[in-house]
Parts: sequence; structure tokens; C-alpha cells
Amino acid sequence: MKELFSVINKLQDVFNTLNLPNSIQLPQIVMLGSQSTGKSSVLESIVRRPFLPRGSGIVTRCPLVLQLIECPLDDRKYRRENNGTIDVKEWGEFLHAKDRIFTDFDEIRKEIEHQTDLIAGRNKGICAEPINLKIFSPEVVNLTLVDLPGITKVSVGDQPENIEDQIKSLVMEYIKNPNSIILSVSAANVDLATSESLKYAKEVDPDGKRTLAVLTKIDLMDAGTDANEMLTGAVIPVKLGIVGVINRSQLDIKNNKTIAEQLEDEKEYFAKNYKKIASYNGIPYLEQRLSKLLMNHIYECLPNLKKEVQMKLVEWQNIFDQCGEELTNPDKIFMKIITSITNDFRGSIDGTTLKLERNAKNVF
Ligand code: GDP
Ligand code: NA
Ligand code: MG
Repeated sequence: MKELFSVINKLQDVFNTLNLPNSIQLPQIVMLGSQSTGKSSVLESIVRRPFLPRGSGIVTRCPLVLQLIECPLDDRKYRRENNGTIDVKEWGEFLHAKDRIFTDFDEIRKEIEHQTDLIAGRNKGICAEPINLKIFSPEVVNLTLVDLPGITKVSVGDQPENIEDQIKSLVMEYIKNPNSIILSVSAANVDLATSESLKYAKEVDPDGKRTLAVLTKIDLMDAGTDANEMLTGAVIPVKLGIVGVINRSQLDIKNNKTIAEQLEDEKEYFAKNYKKIASYNGIPYLEQRLSKLLMNHIYECLPNLKKEVQMKLVEWQNIFDQCGEELTNPDKIFMKIITSITNDFRGSIDGTTLKLERNAKNVF
């Protein structure tokens, strides 16, 4: 299964590099929710490292395509590349700064902020162009996640008045991709019936086949009320489930509480307050659920993905034939990759084993 993720991740890179949005829609998980519901916090909890810009108001201003790559300790690329001079367990790489390896997660945050300012401006504007980040770590599961600007109803500062529409169309572009899994984030201390994210999700996924709900801030529920009914789907049913989580509060962050400590507390909180459903909630459960969903989803998407890749192949072959040597380098590379991958799909799609990695390795 790892090979499958690997090929999907590589395809993603190619499409991002060549700036071919929508050319082929790859499976990925998309974070959807109103501003400050905790989308970025959930992402950080999954990665186990704080690395995202924070603050109140609109912080996430362009899509962040985050590829998590589980990297066993004996497969440390950084070490190899540096002839064993530097030994790191985990690191990040940006598509826009390929030569640099980020071992300090604070530097990753700064780079995201810097790049956001660069492409979305220094004001509160948003931008559809994504930032692509890969995180290699032995502590993550293989997932591709997209963090998006939060849904908002009001424009602030010098934001354009139509900011709500701007964000909506950006968000829609990602969630309407039939190959995406929607992670619809809502805060438990807000009436679930008013959740904008569930509304949006329903628009593009009316049957709820690819929407998983996450309920954050379980710890902030009013005294005397609890999230049992919401979490078991009695308030609003969500076919794939509703997973409750507890992230770090602003105060926790100020007090330098680590994510590891938070996960311990989360576990304890659910065991104490939600004993019967504790094992179906929390960040670790969410992670496992997502990984499995994405895996199944990729299998389901493969036949169509294959068709699309083949169609692209024909299209590009025609262009290639017409232009021949005049094609620029990236085009040639793209052709090579598509040809190889198509061959892979051809050979494997009907079988039970998917030996994609071997051939992909020859190309990339
Ligand atoms: P985003 O705008 O959806 O990305 O939201 P953030 O992840 O930036 O979170 C907004 C604020 O809510 C931050 O101050 C977080 O610390 C806080 N927060 C997020 N999740 C939780 C949670 O589960 N419990 C508590 N107490 N605070 C949370
Ligand atoms: Na929401
Ligand atoms: Mg955010």
C-alpha cells in the first residue's frame, strides 16, 4: 500500500510543478471548516509537531498541500545526502525551495508565512495558489492533507468585501474534487446545526460518501452538557462518522505544552468523560480512520484515474508529436512520467498486487 501512496504523492508533485490544476484529480484529504474551528491545530496534532502559522483571524490564506511520508529510521534521506554528517529523524521540504531541507519546524512555519506573504500579499487577502510541503517522519502515517482558509462571513481590515465568495470558490474547488475526502471540522462549543462546513460538504457530497466529521474543542463544552449526542450522530448523522478531538488551547501553546502532552491529556479526558466511546475518538483514532479511508478511496479512484492518465497521455503525445524537440524540458519530463505511470497502471490495475513503485523509481 505504501507504493500506492508513493505514486500518488509523486503524481501530485508533477502536477504541482507543472502548474496543471485539475488536469487529473488526485485523492487527498481536505480540511474544511469555519475560521478558528481548529483545522490547523488538527493538522499539527496529526503531524505531532507545531509548524503552522498561528494567530487570530485569517491566518491560513492559501492552500497548504501537505504530504506526510512515513519514513523509517533506517531510511533517512537527509543522512544519506549529507554523507552521514547530519543525522535527523524528520524533516520538511517545500516544492518552491527544493534545495533546502528544513529540520527545524519553527523554520517551516517561518517559510510558510514568508511564502504566504509572497503569493497572497501582506494584507489579509487570500490566494488560490498552493504551498506544497512534504514532511518525512517515522511518526506519521502516509497521508496527503490540504489545509484551507477558513470559511468566514465577514471581511476584516482591508479584505475585499467579497472575501466570503472568494474563500467559498477556493474551498469548493478542492472539495468538489470527487477524489477528495472531506474532513469537515466543527467546534463542539458551537451549535452543530449551524455548521457551515457540514453545509458546504453536503453541497458537493450529498450522499455523505466522502465526508468525515471532526468535532474539536470537546474540552470547551458548557458545563453540564456533553458531546455524546453529537459524537454518536444523534444530532446530525454523518455516514462516515464523527470523531471528537481535543487540541491545544491558546493558553496551552503559550505555556509550551507539547503535542505529546496534549495527546496524553486527550486520551485521559475521553477515558474519563466519554468512557463508552473513548476508543472511537481522539487524534490517534482519527489518524487511523483517515489512513484507511484514503487507502480504500485510492483503490476506488484507480480505474478512473487510470482513464484520465491515459487520456492525458494521448493528448500530450499529440502535442509532443507536433512539437518534437521544441518542447521545453518539463513537458518532456511529464511525458516520460505519464508514459511510465500509464504502463504501470496498465500492468497492475486488474491484478491484486500493485507494483507501481519499481517503475516509478526509474523515472523520478
Ligand atoms: P483554524 O482557523 O480552523 O485553523 O483554527 P486553529 O487551529 O488556528 O485554532 C484556533 C484557536 O482555537 C487556537 O487558539 C487554538 O489553540 C484553539 N483550539 C483549537 N482546537 C482546540 C481544542 O480542541 N480545544 C481548545 N481548548 N482550543 C482549541
Ligand atoms: Na464549521
Ligand atoms: Mg488555519
